[in-house]
Amino acid sequence: MAFIEELLAKESYTKSELVELLQVTGDGRAKLFSKAAGIKEKYLGNKVYLRGLVEMSNVCRKNCLYCGIRSGNQKVNRYNLTDDEIVDAAIFAWKNKYGSIALQAGEISTREFATRVEGLLGKINAATYGELGITLSLGEQDEDTYRRWFQKGGIRYLLRIESSNQELYKKLHPNDSLHDYKTRIECLKSLRRVGYQVGSGVMIGLPFQTLEHLADDLLWMQEMDLDMVGMGPYVEHPDTPLFEYREQLLPIAERFDLSLKMTALIRVMMKNINIVAPTALQAIDPLGREKAIKVGANVVMPNITPGAFRNDYKLYENKPCVDDAADDCKNCLDARIQLAGHEVGYGEHGDSPHFYQRKNAQ
Ligand code: 5AD
Ligand code: SF4
Ligand code: FES
Repeated sequence: MAFIEELLAKESYTKSELVELLQVTGDGRAKLFSKAAGIKEKYLGNKVYLRGLVEMSNVCRKNCLYCGIRSGNQKVNRYNLTDDEIVDAAIFAWKNKYGSIALQAGEISTREFATRVEGLLGKINAATYGELGITLSLGEQDEDTYRRWFQKGGIRYLLRIESSNQELYKKLHPNDSLHDYKTRIECLKSLRRVGYQVGSGVMIGLPFQTLEHLADDLLWMQEMDLDMVGMGPYVEHPDTPLFEYREQLLPIAERFDLSLKMTALIRVMMKNINIVAPTALQAIDPLGREKAIKVGANVVMPNITPGAFRNDYKLYENKPCVDDAADDCKNCLDARIQLAGHEVGYGEHGDSPHFYQRKNAQ
Protein backbone atom coordinates (compact mmCIF):
# COMPACT_ATOMS: atom_id res chain seq x y z
CA MET A 1 0.00 0.00 0.00
CA ALA A 2 3.04 2.27 0.09
CA PHE A 3 2.21 3.13 -3.50
CA ILE A 4 -1.13 4.70 -2.54
CA GLU A 5 0.47 6.61 0.31
CA GLU A 6 3.08 8.03 -2.01
CA LEU A 7 0.43 9.00 -4.52
CA LEU A 8 -1.73 10.66 -1.89
CA ALA A 9 1.22 12.67 -0.61
CA LYS A 10 1.75 14.33 -4.01
CA GLU A 11 0.89 17.97 -4.64
CA SER A 12 -0.61 17.41 -8.07
CA TYR A 13 -1.75 14.51 -10.20
CA THR A 14 -1.44 13.33 -13.75
CA LYS A 15 -4.36 11.84 -15.60
CA SER A 16 -3.03 8.32 -15.28
CA GLU A 17 -2.50 8.74 -11.53
CA LEU A 18 -6.10 9.88 -11.18
CA VAL A 19 -7.32 6.89 -13.18
CA GLU A 20 -5.33 4.75 -10.76
CA LEU A 21 -6.85 6.46 -7.74
CA LEU A 22 -10.37 6.07 -9.11
CA GLN A 23 -9.83 2.32 -9.02
CA VAL A 24 -8.49 1.88 -5.49
CA THR A 25 -10.28 -0.62 -3.28
CA GLY A 26 -10.02 -1.85 0.31
CA ASP A 27 -7.30 -0.22 2.36
CA GLY A 28 -6.27 2.16 -0.44
CA ARG A 29 -9.82 3.41 -0.74
CA ALA A 30 -10.00 3.96 3.03
CA LYS A 31 -6.73 5.94 2.86
CA LEU A 32 -8.03 8.15 0.07
CA PHE A 33 -11.19 8.87 2.05
CA SER A 34 -9.36 9.63 5.25
CA LYS A 35 -6.92 11.92 3.44
CA ALA A 36 -9.86 13.88 1.99
CA ALA A 37 -11.59 14.05 5.38
CA GLY A 38 -8.37 15.35 6.98
CA ILE A 39 -7.99 18.06 4.34
CA LYS A 40 -11.54 19.23 4.82
CA GLU A 41 -11.13 19.34 8.59
CA LYS A 42 -7.88 21.30 8.26
CA TYR A 43 -9.06 23.86 5.70
CA LEU A 44 -12.77 24.18 6.48
CA GLY A 45 -13.41 22.69 9.91
CA ASN A 46 -16.37 20.44 10.59
CA LYS A 47 -19.20 22.73 9.50
CA VAL A 48 -21.68 21.89 6.79
CA TYR A 49 -23.58 24.75 5.17
CA LEU A 50 -27.14 24.65 3.90
CA ARG A 51 -28.63 26.02 0.68
CA GLY A 52 -32.42 25.78 0.79
CA LEU A 53 -33.27 24.60 -2.72
CA VAL A 54 -36.25 26.20 -4.48
CA GLU A 55 -37.17 24.47 -7.73
CA MET A 56 -38.84 27.51 -9.28
CA SER A 57 -40.10 25.95 -12.46
CA ASN A 58 -39.69 22.76 -14.47
CA VAL A 59 -40.26 24.52 -17.77
CA CYS A 60 -37.13 24.10 -19.88
CA ARG A 61 -36.21 25.11 -23.41
CA LYS A 62 -33.58 22.39 -23.64
CA ASN A 63 -33.83 18.74 -24.45
CA CYS A 64 -30.81 17.12 -22.74
CA LEU A 65 -30.91 13.41 -23.45
CA TYR A 66 -30.52 12.35 -19.79
CA CYS A 67 -32.94 14.69 -18.04
CA GLY A 68 -36.49 13.89 -16.94
CA ILE A 69 -37.79 17.43 -17.41
CA ARG A 70 -36.38 17.87 -20.93
CA SER A 71 -38.70 19.84 -23.20
CA GLY A 72 -39.49 16.73 -25.26
CA ASN A 73 -40.94 14.83 -22.29
CA GLN A 74 -44.66 15.32 -22.67
CA LYS A 75 -45.48 13.35 -19.55
CA VAL A 76 -44.25 16.15 -17.29
CA ASN A 77 -46.81 18.34 -15.61
CA ARG A 78 -45.19 21.75 -16.10
CA TYR A 79 -45.37 24.30 -13.29
CA ASN A 80 -44.06 27.73 -12.51
CA LEU A 81 -44.06 28.89 -8.88
CA THR A 82 -45.38 32.38 -8.23
CA ASP A 83 -43.10 35.05 -6.81
CA ASP A 84 -45.05 34.83 -3.54
CA GLU A 85 -44.47 31.09 -3.26
CA ILE A 86 -40.75 31.58 -3.85
CA VAL A 87 -40.48 34.48 -1.40
CA ASP A 88 -42.34 32.38 1.21
CA ALA A 89 -39.84 29.56 0.76
CA ALA A 90 -36.99 32.07 1.15
CA ILE A 91 -38.60 33.40 4.34
CA PHE A 92 -38.81 29.83 5.66
CA ALA A 93 -35.07 29.40 5.01
CA TRP A 94 -34.28 32.73 6.60
CA LYS A 95 -36.39 32.10 9.72
CA ASN A 96 -34.81 28.70 10.15
CA LYS A 97 -31.31 30.16 9.81
CA TYR A 98 -30.37 28.22 6.70
CA GLY A 99 -28.02 31.07 5.78
CA SER A 100 -28.46 30.56 2.03
CA ILE A 101 -30.91 29.52 -0.64
CA ALA A 102 -30.46 28.22 -4.18
CA LEU A 103 -32.89 29.09 -6.96
CA GLN A 104 -33.02 26.43 -9.63
CA ALA A 105 -35.18 26.04 -12.74
CA GLY A 106 -35.18 24.54 -16.17
CA GLU A 107 -33.47 26.82 -18.64
CA ILE A 108 -35.54 29.77 -19.81
CA SER A 109 -33.64 32.54 -21.52
CA THR A 110 -36.26 35.08 -22.46
CA ARG A 111 -36.03 38.75 -21.59
CA GLU A 112 -39.19 38.38 -19.48
CA PHE A 113 -37.54 35.67 -17.41
CA ALA A 114 -34.41 37.78 -16.86
CA THR A 115 -36.55 40.67 -15.68
CA ARG A 116 -38.67 38.43 -13.52
CA VAL A 117 -35.65 37.01 -11.71
CA GLU A 118 -34.28 40.50 -11.22
CA GLY A 119 -37.50 41.56 -9.53
CA LEU A 120 -37.67 38.35 -7.55
CA LEU A 121 -34.17 38.84 -6.14
CA GLY A 122 -35.23 42.30 -5.01
CA LYS A 123 -38.32 40.86 -3.30
CA ILE A 124 -36.38 38.08 -1.58
CA ASN A 125 -33.75 40.48 -0.26
CA ALA A 126 -36.41 42.92 0.93
CA ALA A 127 -38.29 40.17 2.79
CA THR A 128 -35.15 38.70 4.42
CA TYR A 129 -33.19 41.93 5.08
CA GLY A 130 -30.57 40.90 2.52
CA GLU A 131 -29.30 38.31 4.96
CA LEU A 132 -29.50 35.21 2.76
CA GLY A 133 -26.66 34.17 0.48
CA ILE A 134 -28.35 33.50 -2.86
CA THR A 135 -27.08 30.87 -5.29
CA LEU A 136 -28.53 30.80 -8.79
CA SER A 137 -28.76 27.73 -10.96
CA LEU A 138 -30.70 29.02 -13.95
CA GLY A 139 -28.71 27.76 -16.89
CA GLU A 140 -27.11 29.56 -19.79
CA GLN A 141 -27.81 33.28 -20.08
CA ASP A 142 -26.04 36.21 -21.70
CA GLU A 143 -23.45 38.14 -19.69
CA ASP A 144 -25.72 41.13 -19.32
CA THR A 145 -28.37 38.97 -17.65
CA TYR A 146 -25.78 37.41 -15.35
CA ARG A 147 -24.65 40.93 -14.43
CA ARG A 148 -28.15 42.18 -13.73
CA TRP A 149 -28.82 39.24 -11.40
CA PHE A 150 -25.46 39.72 -9.68
CA GLN A 151 -26.26 43.37 -9.05
CA LYS A 152 -29.54 42.30 -7.44
CA GLY A 153 -27.76 40.04 -4.98
CA GLY A 154 -27.11 36.68 -6.63
CA ILE A 155 -23.64 35.86 -5.29
CA ARG A 156 -23.01 32.31 -6.50
CA TYR A 157 -23.88 30.49 -9.73
CA LEU A 158 -23.95 26.79 -10.46
CA LEU A 159 -23.67 25.63 -14.06
CA ARG A 160 -22.54 22.06 -14.52
CA ILE A 161 -20.45 21.18 -17.55
CA GLU A 162 -21.99 17.67 -17.26
CA SER A 163 -18.88 16.25 -18.98
CA SER A 164 -15.74 18.20 -19.79
CA ASN A 165 -15.12 15.95 -22.78
CA GLN A 166 -16.57 17.53 -25.90
CA GLU A 167 -17.24 14.26 -27.69
CA LEU A 168 -19.09 12.82 -24.71
CA TYR A 169 -20.98 16.09 -24.24
CA LYS A 170 -22.23 15.73 -27.82
CA LYS A 171 -23.51 12.23 -27.13
CA LEU A 172 -25.52 13.49 -24.16
CA HIS A 173 -27.20 16.37 -25.92
CA PRO A 174 -29.07 17.01 -29.16
CA ASN A 175 -26.69 18.10 -31.85
CA ASP A 176 -27.82 21.70 -32.29
CA SER A 177 -26.81 25.24 -31.38
CA LEU A 178 -28.94 25.23 -28.23
CA HIS A 179 -26.78 22.48 -26.73
CA ASP A 180 -23.32 23.73 -27.52
CA TYR A 181 -20.32 22.81 -25.35
CA LYS A 182 -18.47 26.01 -26.27
CA THR A 183 -21.40 28.20 -25.23
CA ARG A 184 -21.38 26.53 -21.85
CA ILE A 185 -17.68 27.23 -21.37
CA GLU A 186 -18.26 30.85 -22.42
CA CYS A 187 -21.05 31.12 -19.85
CA LEU A 188 -18.73 29.89 -17.10
CA LYS A 189 -16.18 32.52 -18.14
CA SER A 190 -18.87 35.22 -18.15
CA LEU A 191 -19.91 34.25 -14.64
CA ARG A 192 -16.33 34.58 -13.43
CA ARG A 193 -15.93 37.98 -15.12
CA VAL A 194 -19.14 39.27 -13.55
CA GLY A 195 -17.89 38.33 -10.09
CA TYR A 196 -19.89 35.29 -8.98
CA GLN A 197 -18.52 32.43 -6.93
CA VAL A 198 -18.62 29.93 -9.77
CA GLY A 199 -19.60 26.30 -9.43
CA SER A 200 -19.66 23.47 -11.93
CA GLY A 201 -19.48 19.72 -12.01
CA VAL A 202 -20.25 16.55 -13.89
CA MET A 203 -22.42 13.45 -13.80
CA ILE A 204 -20.69 10.22 -12.89
CA GLY A 205 -21.45 6.86 -14.45
CA LEU A 206 -22.93 8.17 -17.69
CA PRO A 207 -23.31 5.90 -20.69
CA PHE A 208 -20.12 5.97 -22.82
CA GLN A 209 -18.13 7.51 -19.93
CA THR A 210 -14.73 6.05 -19.02
CA LEU A 211 -12.42 6.51 -16.03
CA GLU A 212 -10.19 8.56 -18.33
CA HIS A 213 -13.09 10.95 -18.91
CA LEU A 214 -13.59 11.29 -15.15
CA ALA A 215 -9.88 11.90 -14.56
CA ASP A 216 -10.02 14.62 -17.22
CA ASP A 217 -13.10 16.08 -15.50
CA LEU A 218 -11.12 16.42 -12.25
CA LEU A 219 -8.24 18.13 -14.07
CA TRP A 220 -10.71 20.37 -15.89
CA MET A 221 -12.30 21.52 -12.60
CA GLN A 222 -8.86 22.34 -11.26
CA GLU A 223 -7.88 24.14 -14.45
CA MET A 224 -11.09 26.21 -14.32
CA ASP A 225 -10.17 27.15 -10.74
CA LEU A 226 -13.77 26.60 -9.63
CA ASP A 227 -14.99 27.97 -6.31
CA MET A 228 -17.65 25.30 -5.91
CA VAL A 229 -18.19 21.80 -7.22
CA GLY A 230 -21.47 19.89 -7.45
CA MET A 231 -21.32 16.48 -9.05
CA GLY A 232 -23.18 13.28 -8.56
CA PRO A 233 -24.14 9.94 -10.02
CA TYR A 234 -26.10 9.67 -13.24
CA VAL A 235 -29.45 8.04 -12.47
CA GLU A 236 -31.34 6.92 -15.56
CA HIS A 237 -34.86 8.22 -16.18
CA PRO A 238 -37.30 6.06 -18.17
CA ASP A 239 -38.74 8.94 -20.18
CA THR A 240 -35.43 9.99 -21.70
CA PRO A 241 -33.53 8.86 -24.82
CA LEU A 242 -30.47 7.73 -22.81
CA PHE A 243 -32.61 5.16 -20.97
CA GLU A 244 -32.01 2.95 -23.98
CA TYR A 245 -28.41 2.47 -22.84
CA ARG A 246 -29.26 1.35 -19.31
CA GLU A 247 -27.89 -2.14 -19.89
CA GLN A 248 -24.45 -0.66 -20.55
CA LEU A 249 -24.28 1.33 -17.34
CA LEU A 250 -22.10 0.50 -14.37
CA PRO A 251 -24.13 -1.11 -11.58
CA ILE A 252 -25.65 1.60 -9.40
CA ALA A 253 -23.44 0.68 -6.42
CA GLU A 254 -20.36 1.30 -8.57
CA ARG A 255 -21.66 4.65 -9.75
CA PHE A 256 -22.17 5.51 -6.11
CA ASP A 257 -18.65 4.43 -5.16
CA LEU A 258 -17.13 6.37 -8.05
CA SER A 259 -19.07 9.47 -6.96
CA LEU A 260 -17.57 9.21 -3.47
CA LYS A 261 -14.09 8.79 -4.94
CA MET A 262 -14.59 11.77 -7.26
CA THR A 263 -15.71 13.84 -4.24
CA ALA A 264 -12.70 12.75 -2.18
CA LEU A 265 -10.29 13.38 -5.06
CA ILE A 266 -11.55 16.87 -5.84
CA ARG A 267 -11.22 17.70 -2.13
CA VAL A 268 -7.62 16.48 -2.18
CA MET A 269 -6.93 18.50 -5.34
CA MET A 270 -8.83 21.69 -4.40
CA LYS A 271 -8.51 22.04 -0.67
CA ASN A 272 -10.63 25.08 0.19
CA ILE A 273 -13.49 25.01 -2.33
CA ASN A 274 -17.12 24.30 -1.45
CA ILE A 275 -18.30 20.84 -2.45
CA VAL A 276 -21.96 19.85 -2.52
CA ALA A 277 -23.12 16.48 -1.21
CA PRO A 278 -25.50 15.83 -4.11
CA THR A 279 -29.07 14.78 -3.52
CA ALA A 280 -28.76 12.24 -6.34
CA LEU A 281 -26.49 10.20 -4.04
CA GLN A 282 -29.40 9.77 -1.71
CA ALA A 283 -31.51 8.43 -4.56
CA ILE A 284 -29.17 5.43 -4.45
CA ASP A 285 -28.27 5.07 -0.77
CA PRO A 286 -30.35 6.44 2.13
CA LEU A 287 -27.09 7.58 3.74
CA GLY A 288 -25.61 8.89 0.49
CA ARG A 289 -25.19 12.52 1.45
CA GLU A 290 -23.70 11.70 4.85
CA LYS A 291 -21.15 9.50 3.18
CA ALA A 292 -20.17 12.37 0.87
CA ILE A 293 -19.82 14.69 3.87
CA LYS A 294 -17.45 12.22 5.47
CA VAL A 295 -15.18 12.24 2.41
CA GLY A 296 -14.95 15.95 1.73
CA ALA A 297 -18.32 17.57 0.91
CA ASN A 298 -19.32 20.60 3.00
CA VAL A 299 -22.59 21.83 1.49
CA VAL A 300 -26.06 20.25 1.50
CA MET A 301 -29.13 21.51 -0.36
CA PRO A 302 -32.32 20.66 1.54
CA ASN A 303 -35.39 20.98 -0.63
CA ILE A 304 -37.70 23.85 0.36
CA THR A 305 -39.86 23.78 -2.79
CA PRO A 306 -43.55 23.76 -1.78
CA GLY A 307 -44.37 20.05 -1.36
CA ALA A 308 -47.03 19.82 -4.05
CA PHE A 309 -44.50 20.56 -6.79
CA ARG A 310 -41.53 18.46 -5.74
CA ASN A 311 -42.73 15.43 -7.58
CA ASP A 312 -42.88 17.34 -10.85
CA TYR A 313 -39.22 18.34 -10.71
CA LYS A 314 -37.84 14.92 -11.41
CA LEU A 315 -34.54 14.98 -13.23
CA TYR A 316 -33.90 11.34 -12.31
CA GLU A 317 -35.69 8.40 -10.66
CA ASN A 318 -36.09 7.86 -6.90
CA LYS A 319 -35.61 11.50 -6.05
CA PRO A 320 -35.67 11.72 -2.24
CA CYS A 321 -37.81 13.99 -0.05
CA VAL A 322 -40.61 14.39 -2.62
CA ASP A 323 -43.22 13.51 -0.01
CA ASP A 324 -41.72 15.61 2.76
CA ALA A 325 -42.40 19.20 3.78
CA ALA A 326 -39.58 21.72 4.24
CA ASP A 327 -39.83 21.28 8.03
CA ASP A 328 -39.33 17.51 7.75
CA CYS A 329 -36.13 17.99 5.78
CA LYS A 330 -34.84 20.51 8.27
CA ASN A 331 -35.07 18.19 11.26
CA CYS A 332 -34.03 15.16 9.30
CA LEU A 333 -30.94 16.82 7.87
CA ASP A 334 -29.80 18.33 11.13
CA ALA A 335 -29.83 14.89 12.74
CA ARG A 336 -28.09 13.33 9.75
CA ILE A 337 -25.30 15.91 9.68
CA GLN A 338 -24.68 15.49 13.40
CA LEU A 339 -24.59 11.73 13.02
CA ALA A 340 -21.92 12.22 10.36
CA GLY A 341 -19.86 13.99 13.07
CA HIS A 342 -20.47 17.45 11.65
CA GLU A 343 -22.29 20.60 12.65
CA VAL A 344 -24.67 22.77 10.61
CA GLY A 345 -23.41 26.34 10.05
CA TYR A 346 -26.75 27.93 10.93
CA GLY A 347 -27.18 31.56 9.96
CA GLU A 348 -23.92 31.64 8.00
CA HIS A 349 -23.47 32.09 4.25
CA GLY A 350 -20.67 29.54 4.17
CA ASP A 351 -19.08 31.15 1.13
CA SER A 352 -16.25 29.47 -0.72
CA PRO A 353 -12.93 30.34 1.00
CA HIS A 354 -11.28 29.64 -2.33
CA PHE A 355 -13.16 32.53 -3.90
CA TYR A 356 -11.90 35.00 -1.29
CA GLN A 357 -8.40 33.64 -1.54
CA ARG A 358 -8.38 34.38 -5.29
CA LYS A 359 -9.98 37.78 -4.77
CA ASN A 360 -7.50 38.84 -2.12
CA ALA A 361 -4.60 37.73 -4.29
CA GLN A 362 -5.75 39.97 -7.16
N1 5AD B 1 -29.19 11.84 -13.32
C1 5AD B 1 -28.42 12.59 -12.52
N2 5AD B 1 -28.33 13.93 -12.61
C2 5AD B 1 -29.07 14.53 -13.56
N3 5AD B 1 -29.18 15.84 -13.90
C3 5AD B 1 -30.05 15.93 -14.91
N4 5AD B 1 -30.53 14.71 -15.24
C4 5AD B 1 -29.91 13.82 -14.43
C5 5AD B 1 -29.96 12.41 -14.28
N5 5AD B 1 -30.73 11.65 -15.05
C6 5AD B 1 -28.36 16.89 -13.29
C7 5AD B 1 -27.54 17.63 -14.33
C8 5AD B 1 -28.00 19.06 -14.20
C9 5AD B 1 -28.52 19.10 -12.79
C10 5AD B 1 -29.47 20.20 -12.52
O1 5AD B 1 -29.15 17.84 -12.65
O2 5AD B 1 -26.17 17.51 -13.99
O3 5AD B 1 -26.96 20.00 -14.39
FE1 SF4 C 1 -33.24 21.52 -18.95
FE2 SF4 C 1 -31.22 21.32 -17.18
FE3 SF4 C 1 -32.79 19.21 -17.69
FE4 SF4 C 1 -31.06 20.06 -19.57
S1 SF4 C 1 -30.53 19.21 -17.51
S2 SF4 C 1 -33.23 19.49 -19.92
S3 SF4 C 1 -31.12 22.28 -19.24
S4 SF4 C 1 -33.42 21.12 -16.74
FE1 FES D 1 -35.58 15.67 3.22
FE2 FES D 1 -34.48 13.93 5.09
S1 FES D 1 -33.55 15.62 4.03
S2 FES D 1 -36.62 14.27 4.54
